[in-house]
Amino acid sequence: MKKILLVLALVIAGLVVPAPAAPAAPKHTVTYDRYSLMVDGERVLLQAAEFHYFRLPSPDLWRDILEKEKAAGFNAVSVYFSWAFHSPAPGKYDFTGVRDVDRLLRIAEETGLYVIARPGPYINAETTGGGFPAWLKTVPGRARSSAPGYTAAYHDWLAHLNPILARHQVTRGGSVLLYNVENEYAVNTDAVYMQDLQDTARAAGIDVPITTNNCCDAGSWSSTWGSGPGAVQIPGVDDYPQSFDCGNAATVWGPWGAGVTEKVRDDAPVFAAEYQAGAIDLNNAGYDACRDLTGVQYTKYFQKGNVILSGATAFNYYMGFGGTNWGWLAQPNDVYTSYDYGAAIDESRQLTDKYFEYKRQGYFLQAVPQLTKTDVSAAPAVAGLETAARTNPDTGTQFVLVRNAGTTPVSATVDLAGLALPVGLEGHGAKILLTGFDFGAQHLVASTSELLTQATVGGRDVGILYGTDGTAGSTVLSYARKPSVRVLDGQVTSSYDGGKLRLDYTHRGLARVLISGGGHRPLLLLLGTDDTAASFWRYDTPAGPILVRGTDLLRSATVAHGTVALRADTAAAGGFEVLAAAKDVLVNGVRVPTRTTSSGTLEGRLPGPRGVSLPSLDGWRQQGEAPEAKPAFDDSRWTVADKSTSLSPFVPMSQPVLFSDEYGFHTGSVWYRGHFTATGGEATVDLNAITGKRGDYLVWLNGRYLGAAAGGVELDTEAPVNPSPGHGEFTVPAGLLRAGERAVLSVLVQNMGHNDDWTADDNRFRQPRGLVGARIGTAAIDWRIQGTAKIDPARGGLNNGGLYGERTGWSLPGYADRIWPKASKTVPAGVTWLRDNFRLDLPAGQDTSLALRFDGATPAGYRAILYLNGWNVGQYGTAIGPQTDFVLPTGVLHANGTNTLAVAVIAEQPSTVATPHLVVKGSQRGGVPVRDVPASDRP
Ligand code: GAL
Repeated sequence: MKKILLVLALVIAGLVVPAPAAPAAPKHTVTYDRYSLMVDGERVLLQAAEFHYFRLPSPDLWRDILEKEKAAGFNAVSVYFSWAFHSPAPGKYDFTGVRDVDRLLRIAEETGLYVIARPGPYINAETTGGGFPAWLKTVPGRARSSAPGYTAAYHDWLAHLNPILARHQVTRGGSVLLYNVENEYAVNTDAVYMQDLQDTARAAGIDVPITTNNCCDAGSWSSTWGSGPGAVQIPGVDDYPQSFDCGNAATVWGPWGAGVTEKVRDDAPVFAAEYQAGAIDLNNAGYDACRDLTGVQYTKYFQKGNVILSGATAFNYYMGFGGTNWGWLAQPNDVYTSYDYGAAIDESRQLTDKYFEYKRQGYFLQAVPQLTKTDVSAAPAVAGLETAARTNPDTGTQFVLVRNAGTTPVSATVDLAGLALPVGLEGHGAKILLTGFDFGAQHLVASTSELLTQATVGGRDVGILYGTDGTAGSTVLSYARKPSVRVLDGQVTSSYDGGKLRLDYTHRGLARVLISGGGHRPLLLLLGTDDTAASFWRYDTPAGPILVRGTDLLRSATVAHGTVALRADTAAAGGFEVLAAAKDVLVNGVRVPTRTTSSGTLEGRLPGPRGVSLPSLDGWRQQGEAPEAKPAFDDSRWTVADKSTSLSPFVPMSQPVLFSDEYGFHTGSVWYRGHFTATGGEATVDLNAITGKRGDYLVWLNGRYLGAAAGGVELDTEAPVNPSPGHGEFTVPAGLLRAGERAVLSVLVQNMGHNDDWTADDNRFRQPRGLVGARIGTAAIDWRIQGTAKIDPARGGLNNGGLYGERTGWSLPGYADRIWPKASKTVPAGVTWLRDNFRLDLPAGQDTSLALRFDGATPAGYRAILYLNGWNVGQYGTAIGPQTDFVLPTGVLHANGTNTLAVAVIAEQPSTVATPHLVVKGSQRGGVPVRDVPASDRP
């Protein structure tokens, strides 16, 4: 009180100026009509990339990805929120550290991206349980329905998440523009549930339009979309025209449809809620093959086609960046550790060829506001090409799609605005051509080059047009009087007739033409190829747009007092140029000498990244474990497994129920110890385990290793329906069991994450994990079970399973391994740990992305769980997937400091050891500042 009075007195005396109240964030209105979304009444073409923060456990790197998406012309990200990632147990929620979604939404705001928020509760996404926490399996009431038990559970999730989303809405000055309820719910019909999701959101203050993403066949559900309970405002549609057949990338072409997003409601814009931008690797072909499957030609042909054929004005490309199923995040039946997805930005955060096709399309979409309101119009017919067109009814601007459905190039003539102009398309090429397009002070009559972008910089209009290398192009502009045309670079011919200036050229390199006079403000036309066009970066500063060419990324820019300051990345030393109303250039805070070129740009040179030297990993120490396999092990504090029923549709194959979820163990490895009195006549141990694909289990009897078997998947997908999933029969060695003596069976089950609920069918989602049947003669067995000992506060509930080493901290950096012997070249059957420390001192001001790489053949029956500084960065092994590179996210990786690798090897038989080494996946000068992700060193 005294302090307050003192401050008050000082304020009155004029000695202390009260801090101004933080300026209220500007609030906006979000509306829509049949054509598009609108913010403050202005039409928006929404171009989103899907991003899963939970697949990148280094929050500073969220900014890296979002800036890269923004630099490709995206103006939005679409984000699933995984319930499982935030809730390790009923009633327990965590939104801190790598789960700090408030921070994610702030970064989106700062980056200038809208957010399509997708809180589920069900999200699919090839993530464990499809986003459902595994504890939900033990909650009564059908999931994805209005059943009371499920309803109470998801109300709790949304009660935690909705307030965060609500305060970040565009309507409150934030980034959340759309709210997506459920996921591909078309297969179900519970309108009460769909309505409750929306009512719950509205009650929490969600006031932006609500959408949902429909799939496959709208079916009966779509009939309620127009009106009635459950109907959303803006229905979206998912399209994956190219399938997931990555192994046949060279020959697959659109097996899953034309990829034209259907219109669902007349009063809402067409919304491509998920449009295929990569693929899951169902056949273990590797993600490079998935990137080929959905490469540049696919991206041109299908996406540009969809823009014109569907008239959609809102798009979300799945995925923009896939990331990593670190820990036990993977839904194991469809994916392994990497969720690279063959996306435009790869798992190690590098930009791929496809990124630059997104950039060409993204820049175009943002440069043509006329596209936000169009109707179908008559398209010119072109021999050998598919055509379609849309026209803006207010401006008359026409968008003409020309596509080559064949695989051989086509050169043809197209009639645009009454002019016969040459157009050339490569196999599976596609262009969106413009007629009657006003930009700056210019009027484009027609062009057979595509527009990359247009801007007004320093009193001059600039247009960048492009076409396939070596093809002919023509651009016609209208001028009241003959203008002066100066070809600054390249070969371009011009002619003026009847108010029209026509330029003819072959797309090659980068031609530069300066047009002045003729009654307009000067125009710099840059005529490029796909590659030279994509080398331009655009950033819209409050002082107007700027263009940069020659850097490997432009993250942001400001212009003030004659200086343009860029945040840019370079992968090699080289020249760059800037077009900005400025005379001085700063790059990453350093002044760069420049000269002015004939086209009025500032040109200079930038340094590249410094060399990176990596330590070799050769200090491995090794320690065997699995005391649980020994008869004398004390399991008295383990959980007694004695339940007789479960909510799973899977009928236990023996009693008691051994499903690990029933006892609260949901993640990774689970141990069982079964005690029984032997008769001496037991011949076999018969077991069944369900682990999800890629799992296995190892069996010991009285300390003797009996062998291993593959875990089963689930009853309804094992073809033909397998009455005995994950079966293993193990011979009891003669003399091991004696009549009347107690014996112990130890089983280590490697669970692999949980089935999804794509079909909204409890059958699949509630499939158990762990042992589902156990028989040794006729003995009654007393069971105890042990899984994850404790939830790691920073790394979360999906990081660790229940291996002895995990329960006692062997995976953590602080564990004292100095007494462990040096690693040998072999491991016995069972569990063995390897540890090594290494120091890194990566160059500052540089973004170096590292991975662990395994070379050579993977030993059979061998799996390794990889921990970097205690973070489970993946699982390696032939039974797991084709992956041999494991990306180490900076932040989890200490770029300047000591790092600890711990590897838990689970070997089904004695094996040679596979140890990884470090590799550089990419290194650029620039990047974003990345701090080490805080996490404890000890249990
Ligand atoms: C969609 C689903 C996404 C993801 C995708 C395939 O059907 O909505 O969550 O699973 O398929 O990667």
